[in-house]
Amino acid sequence: MGNITIFLIFLAVNCCFWASAAIPIINSSTDESALLAFKAKITQDPYNILLKNWTQGTPFCNWIGITCSHRHQRVKALDLSSKGLKGTIAKEVGNLSFLISVNLSNNNFQGNIPDELSHLRRLRGLYMQLNELSGQIPESFGFLNRIQELFLYNNSLSGPIPPAIFNISSFQVIDLMHNFLGGSLPMDICNNLPNLQSFNVSHNQLEGQIPESFSRCSEIKFLALSYNEFTGSIPRKLGNLSKLEQLYLSRNNLTGELPSTIFNISSLTILQAAYNMISGSLPHDICKKTPRLEILYIFANQLGGQIPSSISACRSLKYLSLAYNNISGVIPAEMGNMSALQLLHLISNNLTGELPFNFFNISSLTTIVLGYNRFTGNLPEDLCFRHPNLEFLEIESNQIFGNIPSSISLCSALSTIALTSNYLTGGIPPQIGNITGLQNLYLSENNLTGSIPAEIGNIIGLQHLLLSDNNLTGGIPAEIGNIIGLQVLYLSDNYLTGEVTFRFFNFPSLMTLNLASNGFSGSIPHDLCFRHPKLEYLNLENNQFHGQIPSGISLCSAMDTLDLSANKFTGNVLDNIGNMSMLRNLVVGRNNFTGIIPPTIGNMSRLLILQLGWNNFYGKIPPELGKLPILEGVFLQANQFTGEIPPELGQSSSIGRLYMKSNKISGEIPPSIFNISTLRELDLSENQLSSFSVS
Ligand SMILES: *[C@@H]1O[C@H](CO)[C@@H](O)[C@H](O)[C@H]1NC(C)=O
Ligand SMILES: *[C@@H]1O[C@H](CO)[C@@H](O)[C@H](O)[C@H]1NC(C)=O
Ligand SMILES: *[C@@H]1O[C@H](CO)[C@@H](O)[C@H](O)[C@H]1NC(C)=O
Ligand SMILES: *[C@@H]1O[C@H](CO)[C@@H](O)[C@H](O)[C@H]1NC(C)=O
Ligand SMILES: *[C@@H]1O[C@H](CO)[C@@H](O)[C@H](O)[C@H]1NC(C)=O
Ligand SMILES: *[C@@H]1O[C@H](CO)[C@@H](O)[C@H](O)[C@H]1NC(C)=O
Ligand SMILES: *[C@@H]1O[C@H](CO)[C@@H](O)[C@H](O)[C@H]1NC(C)=O
Ligand SMILES: *[C@@H]1O[C@H](CO)[C@@H](O)[C@H](O)[C@H]1NC(C)=O
Ligand SMILES: *[C@@H]1O[C@H](CO)[C@@H](O)[C@H](O)[C@H]1NC(C)=O
Ligand SMILES: *[C@@H]1O[C@H](CO)[C@@H](O)[C@H](O)[C@H]1NC(C)=O
Ligand SMILES: *[C@@H]1O[C@H](CO)[C@@H](O)[C@H](O)[C@H]1NC(C)=O
Ligand SMILES: *[C@@H]1O[C@H](CO)[C@@H](O)[C@H](O)[C@H]1NC(C)=O
Repeated sequence: MGNITIFLIFLAVNCCFWASAAIPIINSSTDESALLAFKAKITQDPYNILLKNWTQGTPFCNWIGITCSHRHQRVKALDLSSKGLKGTIAKEVGNLSFLISVNLSNNNFQGNIPDELSHLRRLRGLYMQLNELSGQIPESFGFLNRIQELFLYNNSLSGPIPPAIFNISSFQVIDLMHNFLGGSLPMDICNNLPNLQSFNVSHNQLEGQIPESFSRCSEIKFLALSYNEFTGSIPRKLGNLSKLEQLYLSRNNLTGELPSTIFNISSLTILQAAYNMISGSLPHDICKKTPRLEILYIFANQLGGQIPSSISACRSLKYLSLAYNNISGVIPAEMGNMSALQLLHLISNNLTGELPFNFFNISSLTTIVLGYNRFTGNLPEDLCFRHPNLEFLEIESNQIFGNIPSSISLCSALSTIALTSNYLTGGIPPQIGNITGLQNLYLSENNLTGSIPAEIGNIIGLQHLLLSDNNLTGGIPAEIGNIIGLQVLYLSDNYLTGEVTFRFFNFPSLMTLNLASNGFSGSIPHDLCFRHPKLEYLNLENNQFHGQIPSGISLCSAMDTLDLSANKFTGNVLDNIGNMSMLRNLVVGRNNFTGIIPPTIGNMSRLLILQLGWNNFYGKIPPELGKLPILEGVFLQANQFTGEIPPELGQSSSIGRLYMKSNKISGEIPPSIFNISTLRELDLSENQLSSFSVS
């Protein structure tokens, strides 16, 4: 008995002697000096918090951002979040040995995370997200053996994630999103993380396989691995995560099939695996065990097969995108019962059959995107009774036929109607003018007849109006002039006629105007560009426009493409385009333009295509053409050009097509022309050139 007592006393003494030797150097005055050291590293403090409040000699437990423990008057929590602070983090913070929580989030802290923070053995939460921290996550963080939450998202951290941190069994939340972390995750990542609930490493540069051992993080609810470079297949064992609610795997290089086991997780609400190389088909019993699923995004993969009818068992599904895959077959009729569905995104697959509107009875639908498939059928008259909340209707490039029902105006929330490239016939219903919130109306490439309804002018918020490649007749209604926000107007390739006075054109935001291949007449008013300074694309090709090009056209300084070809324009267009420094395509062939090519053409350094053919241009071909850095096509044929071919053209490193046929060009062909390595097509015929000798 005595022996044991002695032993215990010895042990106690030994213990306390050791403790008093090692620990007392840290007391509350150490805390003050650590805080002052922290303050000393701050270079920017816009609210003067540290400068004015953190004053030496005043009790630091009252300083802003400090919480002390009552008993020891030691710093328990440091919260300087969102204070606009800039500077580095002093390593002395590692001496605040009573710290439980550090919140420095949403500042501009730079530099490395000090290794010394790993001395904070009481630390439970470290929040340093939304800063500019760089370097690596300290390896020594593996010693933070009470930590529960680590937030480092939105910094510039790089290097591997130290595997040691995955040994801290107290962890509940790890969020490292939006950094530059690399390397791979340890295969045994979850062998010692029994409490982990949330793990986010999205938007990094992680590679390798997704560890199968994630299946041992049995408490996990949130797992985000998106926007990395993970390869291999999605582990089947993830299906064991019976509490998982959100799984993000998008934008990796994942291959193989989508494991059916994932769809055994009844708690799952969000599954995103877009932009990968997932193949195979959707599990045939998909959704039978995931009644809570709300978001299913598997777009941009290589899925084949058909949409299983069991998908309708996802009764809570709001957002479904299977777009950009190779799914075929028809949309299962059962999907018509998915009463929570808001977004249906199936663009660019190989789907067939009738449009689903006849069996869809889903009033919550706001977005229907079915383009680039092989759907047939028509737009039913009761479309908007079934889908009154529709905002976005996109069925481009399918095989739908029939009329656009006038009842479409009952979908009063529509912002986009995109029906381009189908077999629609009949007229554009004037009732479309009742959809006053419409921003985009795309009806090009159909067989629409009749005239452009004046009621379109009621949609004053319309930005894009595309009606090209139809059989529309009549003129442009003056009411169009009310659409003051119009940015893009395409009316090309119809049978539209009448004089376009442009008088009612008053679209300050207009960027694109294409009236090509109609029967329009009229001339370009002097103030066209004054009223449309943002115009980048003007195409009047193949109409009956006449008159001179006014000098005011030079105010279109953003112009990229000017196509006036095949009209009856006269005068000298080239005098007035000098200020169009952005011009790439100047296409004015087949008119009755005259004048010389001014040497200032050498300033149009972005010029790609110069099409002047079939006009009455005269004078010499300017040598400056040889200096234009990207000029590819030069079409000067059928004009009155004289003089010799300037040898300087040979300096060009970009001309691919050079046409001078049918002019009055004389002299010898300069041999330098054959130094243009890019030249593919050359036509100098029907001129007065003397033969040249091939040496
Ligand atoms: C804290 O410790 C230092 C020695 O490390 C000592 O000089 C100081 O008196 C101590 N302060 C208090 C308040 O105990
Ligand atoms: C710092 O701010 C706190 C809280 O506003 C205040 O109680 C304290 O007196 C201030 N200390 C100094 C030195 O200004
Ligand atoms: C840290 O600060 C941010 C910003 O003020 C705040 O949103 C967050 O709740 C804080 N975190 C903790 C754990 O206190
Ligand atoms: C505090 O931390 C610094 C740097 O980590 C160290 O040099 C110093 O000895 C520590 N102790 C005290 C009492 O300041
Ligand atoms: C985080 O960074 C990303 C990318 O820089 C940015 O898009 C995102 O808005 C940031 N998050 C926050 C909350 O600022
Ligand atoms: C994790 O802990 C185990 C057991 O304590 C140890 O064997 C292993 O080396 C540790 N792993 C890391 C990465 O620190
Ligand atoms: C991922 O795939 C893309 C496109 O196929 C490829 O460019 C990239 O190199 C791949 N990355 C990895 C890590 O395999
Ligand atoms: C689309 O499906 C049909 C059979 O329905 C098939 O013949 C065709 O090759 C598929 N198209 C593509 C691009 O896979
Ligand atoms: C338009 O109709 C004609 C004949 O009615 C047909 O040949 C043509 O393919 C149709 N074009 C489109 C785009 O529907
Ligand atoms: C819809 O448009 C038509 C024709 O433009 C018009 O007669 C009708 O009154 C409008 N209906 C509503 C409800 O505004
Ligand atoms: C549209 O015009 C084309 C070409 O002129 C013609 O073949 C086609 O039959 C017309 N379509 C309709 C529906 O009028
Ligand atoms: C073209 O303009 C010239 C004058 O520059 C004129 O003599 C000629 O008749 C015009 N040709 C046509 C077809 O308008």
